[in-house]
Amino acid sequence: MITIRKAEFVTSAVNIKGYPELTGPEIALAGRSNVGKSSLINKFINRRNLARTGNTPGKTQMLNFYRINDEWSFVDLPGYGYAKVSKEIKANWGKMMEEYFSRRENLRAVIQVVDIRHVPSVEDQEMHAFLRNRGIPVLVVATKADKISKGQWGKHLSQIAKALHIPDWHIIITYSAETGLGVPELHEAVEEILSMDNEDS
Ligand code: GTP
Ligand code: MG
Repeated sequence: MITIRKAEFVTSAVNIKGYPELTGPEIALAGRSNVGKSSLINKFINRRNLARTGNTPGKTQMLNFYRINDEWSFVDLPGYGYAKVSKEIKANWGKMMEEYFSRRENLRAVIQVVDIRHVPSVEDQEMHAFLRNRGIPVLVVATKADKISKGQWGKHLSQIAKALHIPDWHIIITYSAETGLGVPELHEAVEEILSMDNEDS
């Protein structure tokens, strides 16, 4: 497990001018609105509400930067797939993502968060393919596992893997921000991403 000595909110940004300076590797979280990205971060760092969570999907329309142990960062990206937002907000979302993924030099990997209960949406599939095509390492986390029985996990994970063309569903991390399931596995995966960084430099 990574020891979280310090976790702090740095800033919110809507474009590159607002990003914090490049200090250490960065791991971004992408996923549908309300899927549980912010809750995943909070559970990962063991803080109740550092990343703002809520019941109003589509509320987080900015990139939120969190710095961990003064060494590396999580970026909570604005969620996609919220039907009720205007065309303008959708176009704006696309621009924000494109700018982030193409310009952020210290981005090391993306954690794509999906809901274990549902087959990935077209937008989930597009996001996954987009990241793969860009050569950005992507780790899929299926969250809200507490909402279905353990006996159902395998079936759901294999459907998720199939939709995203992931060869082996065991690669997907089963997670719950409610119970803490999957936190050690995600810590380990993050540690591995960060250690690759140390090897290059
Ligand atoms: P946006 O910022 O709007 O994109 O949403 P988000 O992806 O950050 O989701 P958020 O973490 O705010 O969670 C949305 C809702 O789902 C909240 O009511 C959370 O309490 C709930 N939730 C998140 N993760 C879990 C989980 O693992 N289990 C359960 N039961 N509820 C969860
Ligand atoms: Mg959020």
